[in-house]
Formats: sequence, structure tokens, C-alpha cells
Amino acid sequence: MAKIGIFDSGSGGLSVYREIHKLLPREQYVYVSDSAYCPYGGRTREEIEYRATVISEYLIGMGCELIVVACNTATAAAIAFLREKFPSVPFIGMEPAVKPAALATKTGVIGVLATAGTLKASKYLDTRDRFSDGIKVIEHVGQGFVELVENGILEGPEAESTVRESVAPLVESGADFIVLGCTHYPFLRPVIEKVAAELAPDREITVIDPAPAVARQLVNVMAQKNIPSSPEGEEGSIDLYASGDLESLRRIYKLI
Ligand code: DGL
Repeated sequence: MAKIGIFDSGSGGLSVYREIHKLLPREQYVYVSDSAYCPYGGRTREEIEYRATVISEYLIGMGCELIVVACNTATAAAIAFLREKFPSVPFIGMEPAVKPAALATKTGVIGVLATAGTLKASKYLDTRDRFSDGIKVIEHVGQGFVELVENGILEGPEAESTVRESVAPLVESGADFIVLGCTHYPFLRPVIEKVAAELAPDREITVIDPAPAVARQLVNVMAQKNIPSSPEGEEGSIDLYASGDLESLRRIYKLI
């Protein structure tokens, strides 16, 4: 049975766990929400490297053999650092789905929603520049999205008006794909889709969440490293931890 650590600044990483659990339902998971330091979006690279190191040490101490950095901001800021610091532990990170959106767009415009930290990181900028030849990439911070999710506001007028502010510039620029570049945002996906449809009723707009691809990547890495998944009949488990408030994590966990 594999023991897998997952962490995020908050509850967002549960959108990744949800996809991982579909492929690997019988493993033991340890999830850490760094809620005392959430959000990561406006923090410096050094701060995020430090928090990611503390959490990784904790997960390794708990016996985790692999770690999923279920946070785009932490992946962009710290995954190279973590791989260097803990060379024997495989780290799986988030990758904004610019490539599939760029290949499939019909309007030639794709939108990316992410945190300020992700959008300015070279990891994201390199991916964008590699795949965006001949297309326009419009980026926007999902302003207030992390707070909505942490407060359990996943629908209704407040969620819709907050989401509209950040989605409107993408839709108004002609985007027909919206890439979710923050693991909190998939919990607002129904609202994002509703708002996008209201703003451009005649255009089909597809929202892409990279979490299923990250889950497949985890399965591949386990195979490469000869870490067996649990056989039929084993019971999977998840332990939830938080550096601060645990309530919002529990609340989102009940919804997935
Ligand atoms: N869930 C995070 C991400 O994927 C971080 C959000 C935040 O803490 O700002 O980027």
C-alpha cells in the first residue's frame, strides 16, 4: 500500500485529491492544508519555499513515499527547490493546462485564471511561451476566489458577482477556453461556467481543470519508481491536517 502526501495552502488541493482517488482509491493519504499561511498567492518565493519544506518534512516523517504539491502557486515557487532538498522523494506538481487549450481553441484566444504568484513565476511563463505560438493568452487573477472556497461559498449571488469580475475580461477578449490555474478554482467551476455562458451565450466556452492529468501523472510516477498501488480488498484512508483552521478543509472534504 502506498502512502501519499498531498498539500496545498488550504482546501483547494482536495480538487486534486478527488481525481487521484478516482484512479487510486485504496491508498493511504495524508493531506496538509497550510491554512495558517493561506493564501499563498501574494507571498514571496522564499516564504513559500520555507512553508513547502516544513510541510514536506512533516509528510516524509509520517512515512509518505510520494508528495503531490496540489497547489499551482507552491509548484511554481518551490517544486525545484523541494526536489533538490529531498532527492529520494518523488514530487508531483501542478501544470496549468495551457497546451490542451492552445491546441483546441477555435477563437485563437484562451484565458488563464491563477494566483498572482503563479502568473509571474517563470515555471508558468515558460509553459505559456512554449505552447502559445499564434494564439492570444489572456491572464487574470481569480480575485477573491480562494477566500470564497475557504469560506464554503461555492454558489449564489456573492460567488457569482466575485467570479464575474475576473471571468468577464477573459470572455470579453474572445476566449473559448478557460484554464483553471489554481486548485481552489475547480470548486467554483459551476459558477465559472454559468457566468461565462451568461456573458457569451453564443460561444461555447470550455473550462479546463488539470487535476485529472496530474492524477494520471502520479500513477505513471508510481509505476516508474516501482511503488505498487494497493490490491483489491484494501481499504483506502485519508488523514486531514491543517496548520491553522481545520474547519474549512473538513467542510470541502464533505462535498467531494
Ligand atoms: N490553491 C493554490 C493554487 O493552486 C493556492 C491559492 C492561494 O493560496 O493563493 O495556486
